[in-house]
Amino acid sequence: MSLSPILTVMINAARKAARGLQRDFGEVENLQVSVKGPGDFVTASDRKAEKIIREELLKARPLFGFLGEETGDLEGTDPAKHRWIVDPIDGTTNFIHGVPFFSTAIALERQGEVVAGLIYNPISDELFTAERGRGAFLNDRRRLRVAARRDIHDALICCGLPHRGNEGNAQFRAELTAMQGRVAGLRRSGSACLDLAYVAAGRYDGYWERGLKPWDLAAGMLMVREAGGFVTDIDSQADPMARGDVLAANADLIVEMRKLLKDAKA
Ligand code: IPD
Repeated sequence: MSLSPILTVMINAARKAARGLQRDFGEVENLQVSVKGPGDFVTASDRKAEKIIREELLKARPLFGFLGEETGDLEGTDPAKHRWIVDPIDGTTNFIHGVPFFSTAIALERQGEVVAGLIYNPISDELFTAERGRGAFLNDRRRLRVAARRDIHDALICCGLPHRGNEGNAQFRAELTAMQGRVAGLRRSGSACLDLAYVAAGRYDGYWERGLKPWDLAAGMLMVREAGGFVTDIDSQADPMARGDVLAANADLIVEMRKLLKDAKA
């Protein structure tokens, strides 16, 4: 597959930041045994990675706006209203604990619509990319397709758990119980971006989570859609970016999953 100029910019930025992340992840193993643990170190690593990505992206496209998990919102001056949306480490808790399941996510929005997305696991070196109307790919080679499974009893479903003290906890437990009684397997992997990329790749049949941020969602939503899947809000057909609640699957399973979650009451 020949890479577009915009994906090339995104991949270069992610790979440049990845060098630091790979090094820091190696260091986490040493910090793990200290009483304080690697928390502050990882926060610094997160900030460093975002700085590199931001500099690379804005060097290539100086007029574009920028929204980053660590540095917030920077308004651009681009007449076509392009904006980068970046999460330097999605799956921070995994990173802190030395679990090699985290990712860097970069999305490009044009006039409020996501047109390109990248999700990169710097440890496994899996690079998921998508462009609107041009499909989704793994490592620039394999075209991604969502799983075709139609029977929810055979489905492997992924979810996100609300954080400690979150008011959505009781509702989540009801949803988990309802889902668990119907599916072949449930997973909680800890990186919303990779969870969506795995749905796009047909590894997970479906995914739901509430309370996410735009940088957790933007790249992965495009990826699932470009892989032939569907992504919506959980309780309505609205844009998941509006509330941060997301449901993703193929055309058949998304209907069944939505009904199941709707009927699950705390
Ligand atoms: C988190 C991960 C996790 C999800 C959380 C997110 P972060 O992102 O995506 O899977 O359950 O809600 O906050 O904080 O590691 O960038």
